[in-house]
Amino acid sequence: MRLLVTGGAGFIGTNFVRWVRQFQPEVVITVLDAYTYAAQGRNLEVDGWLTDQGGSVRVVRGDIRDAELVHDLVRVHDAVVHFAAESHNDLSLDRPLEFVDVNVRGTGVLLEAVRAHSVRFHHVSTDEVFGDLTLNDPPFTRLSPYRPSSPYSSSKASADHLVRAWVRSYGVNATISICSNNYGPFQHVEKFIPRQITELLEGRPPRIYGSGRNVRDWIHVDDHSAGVWAALTGGAMGQTYLLGARSEFSNLEVVHTLLDIFGRPRTDLLQVADRAGHDLRYAIDPSDTEGELGWRATSRLIYDELERLVHWYDSQQGWWMPLKQATEGRYLARGQ
Ligand code: NAD
Ligand code: DAU
Repeated sequence: MRLLVTGGAGFIGTNFVRWVRQFQPEVVITVLDAYTYAAQGRNLEVDGWLTDQGGSVRVVRGDIRDAELVHDLVRVHDAVVHFAAESHNDLSLDRPLEFVDVNVRGTGVLLEAVRAHSVRFHHVSTDEVFGDLTLNDPPFTRLSPYRPSSPYSSSKASADHLVRAWVRSYGVNATISICSNNYGPFQHVEKFIPRQITELLEGRPPRIYGSGRNVRDWIHVDDHSAGVWAALTGGAMGQTYLLGARSEFSNLEVVHTLLDIFGRPRTDLLQVADRAGHDLRYAIDPSDTEGELGWRATSRLIYDELERLVHWYDSQQGWWMPLKQATEGRYLARGQ
């Protein structure tokens, strides 16, 4: 299979490419990535196993909104897995229209190309399209109504609607996966867990938005990759697959565990300004996907997993340090 991976230099894309290389080595991969602040040229080169010259992964620096480039690439591939997006909620509050343009129009450009060249398409989406839950609601299912809250999540919801419309109107062979919060290596230091780990590594306290009672349902990025692969290769045209690991924790619980790992008192944290429109809780019921694709998450965000991640960030300071100062500068300006 010749596979085009958009956003393959971002957090999940990088891990997905590495996962496919490990478990499906016959697949020939092209990465299309604009290398925004969220990507790292070096992401795909850590361990020295991959370069953009030779090897079985080709890296193209380009924008998913560039229709000519996208058509040229799609035409010579059998399938597209679409990760590329502006992905951070806090940033979407500052630059909403950029999120609309990349996440909605960019997805539209890709859909037009897969339609023109009859290429299989898998769209990677997020549980945030459903909005949030109370602490007592049952988890999201396929039947949950779309109720997004932020510019980011509403742009992802719009993209999902485009995919379904292209399936129905044009017969595009597409699937969608909707996943909960990912953790794992290569996640940008703007995101919750890497931010707290790197603050602690630099000797500063973690920073909690508001009360810290907000709950996220955490899944290891490798479980996400396996789910995307299962949907790409075994999914039914037009179907949506929910991916989650039944691993819900409040932000405060995650930070307490990190403080335990660092041997610091649990009170050693800062409560900072809350996110505008902050969703209270996300949770996924993955049972339909497990039954239909035979996929199941294998990890939960327990102490050992966080400890492993702390070791990873500790050993990769050269990777994240250059990103840290600019990221914290943005947070400081928001009082966070
Ligand atoms: P990320 O921000 O780490 O990576 C996004 C990648 O897309 C970057 O490499 C960036 O350079 C690239 N990109 C951005 N705009 C582009 C453009 N116009 N053209 C080409 N490339 C562009 O994001 P992530 O956390 O890896 O998320 C990847 C996908 O998974 C997103 O679609 C996101 O909505 C979805 N998702 C993320 C999570 C999560 O927990 N992180 C959970 C569920 C779904
Ligand atoms: O649910 C899937 C989504 O998960 C993905 O679609 C998004 O791309 C991804 O960024 C993530 O969105 P969240 O907004 O849930 O993730 P974030 O890491 O920004 O924040 C997680 C929680 O931690 C959220 O409740 C806000 C809180 N938070 C975040 C930061 C950065 C803090 O309390 N302190 C912080 O410093």
